[in-house]
Amino acid sequence: MDFLETACEAARIGGRILDEWAHKFTAREKNPSDLVTEADVASQKAIFEFIEARFPDHRFLGEEGLTHGDESCPYRWVIDPLDGTSNYVHRFPYYAVSIGLELEDELIVGAIYDPNRDELFAAAKGQGATLNGEPITVSERGELGQALCMASLPVRTTREHPAVQRFLRVLEAGQHVQRTGSAALNLCGVACGRIDAFWSQSLKPWDMAAGVVIVREAGGLVTQIEDGTFDLEEPNLLASNGTDLHGQLVNVLD
Ligand code: IPD
Ligand code: CA
Ligand code: CA
Repeated sequence: MDFLETACEAARIGGRILDEWAHKFTAREKNPSDLVTEADVASQKAIFEFIEARFPDHRFLGEEGLTHGDESCPYRWVIDPLDGTSNYVHRFPYYAVSIGLELEDELIVGAIYDPNRDELFAAAKGQGATLNGEPITVSERGELGQALCMASLPVRTTREHPAVQRFLRVLEAGQHVQRTGSAALNLCGVACGRIDAFWSQSLKPWDMAAGVVIVREAGGLVTQIEDGTFDLEEPNLLASNGTDLHGQLVNVLD
């Protein structure tokens, strides 16, 4: 059974569940400003059951309390059943389902489905990245002064927080800096050239796993901000089109 096809089908299944719950969910705070709805939980359950039926030996990590499988298995699915829950709750149509697959700590497959635009972003290592089946590539913009950049900031943060200070520095240097509420869709935006760069220092593995594969396969570059090596277990990510823009952002952010 094909891993990429499975990830894509599972992402669409999750998207259908988000649609079904869109007019009847209730939201609660897991932590201050950290929301969860029945849709997050139902989407994760459906995705897990679908993939697990095909790959019963595989391991799973999902945002809504999902850890499953034997540590000895080299495959691990990393699932965000709803990335952008705050947008979903407020009916701002910018959220997605994100499903990545690791083989021995290397990200090999990613699928992210945006149910509002019916857009499925997908990639497998060495096979390129696609949007609804068509190949995608990153942008060519190499100047921070002309770039559209996205950032994720920690919630309920203070103005003195280093992440806010970094945001302000890029605001001074870049043409446009935005926040959207979905790290997964920001990574898709980088992959298809709608966005030139995205950074955050407060992400979880499920926010990044699928998107990292998609950006890389679209020709982009993913590192940590202070370190050229990306690590899924670290909250720190800088994704860009891989032009000079990457170094310019490192200089401003670091
Ligand atoms: C959040 C989104 C947001 C990012 C947060 C994440 P969630 O995911 O990706 O863009 O800034 O750090 O937690 O909670 O909506 O799945
Ligand atoms: Ca998320
Ligand atoms: Ca989530």
